[in-house]
Amino acid sequence: MDILNKIKQKAKKIDARIVLPEANLDERVYNACKTLLNKNLCKIVVFGKKEQFDKDFYTPNCQIIEIDKFNRLNEFAEQLFELRKLKGLTLKQAKALVKQPDYFTMMLLKNNLADGAVAGACWTTANTLRPALQIVKTKPNKSIVTGAMLMLKEGKKPLVFGDVSLIENPTAENLAEIAISCAEFYKKVIGQPKVAMLSYSTKGSASSDMVAKVQQAVKLAQNKSKFLIDGEMQADSALNKQTALKKGVTSGVAGSANVLIFPDLNAGNIGYKLVSRLAGYAAIGPIMLNFNKPVNDLSRGCTVQEIINTVLLTKIFI
Ligand SMILES: CC(C)(COP(=O)(O)OP(=O)(O)OC[C@H]1O[C@@H](n2cnc3c(N)ncnc32)[C@H](O)[C@@H]1OP(=O)(O)O)[C@@H](O)C(=O)NCCC(=O)NCCS
Repeated sequence: MDILNKIKQKAKKIDARIVLPEANLDERVYNACKTLLNKNLCKIVVFGKKEQFDKDFYTPNCQIIEIDKFNRLNEFAEQLFELRKLKGLTLKQAKALVKQPDYFTMMLLKNNLADGAVAGACWTTANTLRPALQIVKTKPNKSIVTGAMLMLKEGKKPLVFGDVSLIENPTAENLAEIAISCAEFYKKVIGQPKVAMLSYSTKGSASSDMVAKVQQAVKLAQNKSKFLIDGEMQADSALNKQTALKKGVTSGVAGSANVLIFPDLNAGNIGYKLVSRLAGYAAIGPIMLNFNKPVNDLSRGCTVQEIINTVLLTKIFI
């Protein structure tokens, strides 16, 4: 778990304001906020009436906003209307939306009044991420946001899995971008990435539209980046050198892959849960990559410690 400690130490040094919009709705988020403040880990922004929070929250490191009384609500509504009017949003609808904590959070980020957000202890993934996708949007050089999972186990090399949480049925272009984004993430927090694009086929052992999509994604990803990326290959070829050799795959990736790219969201989401439940890896994330400002989604089953970890990870992307 050295990696997690390294990330935490790095994150502690970053000065950032993270919005936790569910602090007044969920006891776990409330308690996580208290720890973040008491241990001086992060500046936070929460919503609600001042009297809903105890004295630990009354510090310059915490901003408590009562949304209904926020003095820039009309300006936020105008901005949201401008942003979404071509999608059919009316000014009346925008005025109602900016009073919702999910949309209000993203408007704070858009206006540089906060640096990142962590939500989803009460809300579904779709409800947490839809306003972020609509308002915060992707970095200029990226076309998609993707959810990566950091998989950690004592004595084993760290792994990154993608996409595990967002893009249901990625195109070949999406898969290539997922691969490059996950490789960038691995490089940022761990070291040299070796990316395997997974399939049920290894180097043409089967042929179908599903396999062809992964093959095309491999070519696109290799052309667009200098990272070590190879495929299509089965998971055993990606992780075991002997199996890879038996199947005739001799790249620098086969047998020693540390970034695994799954062909769709069913495979990615099931894959990380199996590795977590059956092999005892800690699954850290999903970490949403490529937002203009970091927004991360919690699992509704999250613990206080997981919320704190997610806040610290979020700071790494500021
Ligand atoms: C996140 C999700 C809700 C977005 O889909 P949606 O609500 O149908 O919204 P839309 O497809 O209309 O997208 C809304 C906006 O986000 C954009 N968007 C959607 N997915 C995106 C992505 N991965 N990256 C960047 N932008 C994205 C769309 O282009 C659209 O932009 P626009 O309205 O400005 O044109 C959908 O991808 C989803 O449900 N994914 C699965 C999430 C899930 O349940 N995971 C569970 C496992 S943890």
